[in-house]
Amino acid sequence: MSTVYCALVHHPVVDRQGEEVTTSVTNLDVHDIARSARTYGLKGYFVVSPIEAQHPVVQRIVDHWCSGAGRHRFPERGEAIALVRVCLSVDDAIAEIQAEEGKTPRLVVTSAKAGPNRTSYAEEAELLRAGSQPTLLLFGTGHGLSDRVLKRADACLEPIQGPSNFNHLSVRAAVAITLDRLFAVKSSANSPI
Ligand SMILES: C[S@@+](CC[C@H](N)C(=O)[O-])C[C@H]1O[C@@H](n2cnc3c(N)ncnc32)[C@H](O)[C@@H]1O
Repeated sequence: MSTVYCALVHHPVVDRQGEEVTTSVTNLDVHDIARSARTYGLKGYFVVSPIEAQHPVVQRIVDHWCSGAGRHRFPERGEAIALVRVCLSVDDAIAEIQAEEGKTPRLVVTSAKAGPNRTSYAEEAELLRAGSQPTLLLFGTGHGLSDRVLKRADACLEPIQGPSNFNHLSVRAAVAITLDRLFAVKSSANSPI
């Protein structure tokens, strides 16, 4: 089984007009994605922001829940937040994984947009089960990852689609759905709801 990490990318991402921008870190993204990452067994969650002034904001959340007052009130929250690492760029996240695992991670990107050469969740799940190379799953903010990130990926997952034509999931929901599709434990009970 591959060792899997995820990253929430605040740069380079695009805005509504397709211009490359940098978005702000949010408290909710740090918490909710950490909880999903911990639930599905990821080894780390990188918050990628080139704005150094935002790094202490993330670090304060980590410190509060991992060693501060929050640790005693909700220890399980700290267990999830402990996966959070903050870094300046996608390349820094790759370098950190490489240093830790001794191998360069496969880059797997996500997007709400359909396009050519998308990988199905079943295919990717199989690769993760069979693989020994670490994997970094990238999620975007704003209006999604910029083309220069999408282009360097080893795989681009197919978009999540519901039965409606509404295609505006939050990134937190998209992370949870993606991880469930890749790592869910199959229930043997076919319990009708
Ligand atoms: C607010 S969305 C940006 C949506 C953007 N229009 C796009 O093409 O990805 C932010 C991130 O959530 C994830 N995401 C949102 N909707 C998704 C979907 N339907 N399928 C896969 N990932 C999705 C992607 O990582 C995306 O970069």
